[in-house]
Amino acid sequence: MDKSNLQIDFFDDVATEYGRQWTIEEEVRITAGTVAKKYEGRILEIGCGNGRTLQNLPVDSFGMDFSKNMLMCARKRNPLSRLVLADAQKIPFKKQTFNTVVIVNVIHLFGFYDKVLEEVATLEPKFLIVDFRNLMNPVVFFKSLRSRSQVPYKAIMPWKWLGILKKNGFGRFRLFRIIRPLSDPNEGFKVRHAIGYLISMLFWLAPSYVVAAEYMGGTEKND
Ligand SMILES: C[S@@+](CC[C@H](N)C(=O)[O-])C[C@H]1O[C@@H](n2cnc3c(N)ncnc32)[C@H](O)[C@@H]1O
Repeated sequence: MDKSNLQIDFFDDVATEYGRQWTIEEEVRITAGTVAKKYEGRILEIGCGNGRTLQNLPVDSFGMDFSKNMLMCARKRNPLSRLVLADAQKIPFKKQTFNTVVIVNVIHLFGFYDKVLEEVATLEPKFLIVDFRNLMNPVVFFKSLRSRSQVPYKAIMPWKWLGILKKNGFGRFRLFRIIRPLSDPNEGFKVRHAIGYLISMLFWLAPSYVVAAEYMGGTEKND
């Protein structure tokens, strides 16, 4: 079985449970939704999972994922969304179909940043909303070191990430810092949550950022 089939199996298995805890992922979903609603036009969410971010987007948004089970859960949560089963490495849409592409809580799991962005650039969306996990944050750093499962956890330095975006034709960045919640509604208050929260207050140490970028056309490769 190849690596991507193992990943599909993994996400199929966790589809119903995924996202129950209130982690930074929920903060990312809320921020991405708020930013996306400021732009007009059709939206595609790549790696939409069980549809928690789609809930924060306009009802007629498109969601794409390679896990059937995730899409089935997304359908229950978002009856009016248009859902597509496809791999982010081969996006089945023509250029300029979407005004905005959203990719959240997923790029660090792909493990192939460049390939996904090259594929997104072929869509020529006006806007891209994408988050990343910040390697400068100590908790994220250790999580990244420990990641050994079939699904990688690859954090990245902020400047490296912005460089990859630029190389693929994106610019005019706006960065939204994601702050770790002080307590978790499921776990209550824990000292480790409070420490995480305090670290996130230091701008460059936040665990994650949502980046809103504009497609400027022509990747550096084509220049
Ligand atoms: C952690 S979930 C995030 C879901 C959603 N974006 C959210 O914020 O709740 C990651 C999702 O990305 C999907 N995914 C991972 N790799 C993918 C790929 N190569 N193509 C399409 N979907 C992928 C997984 O199936 C999973 O549903």
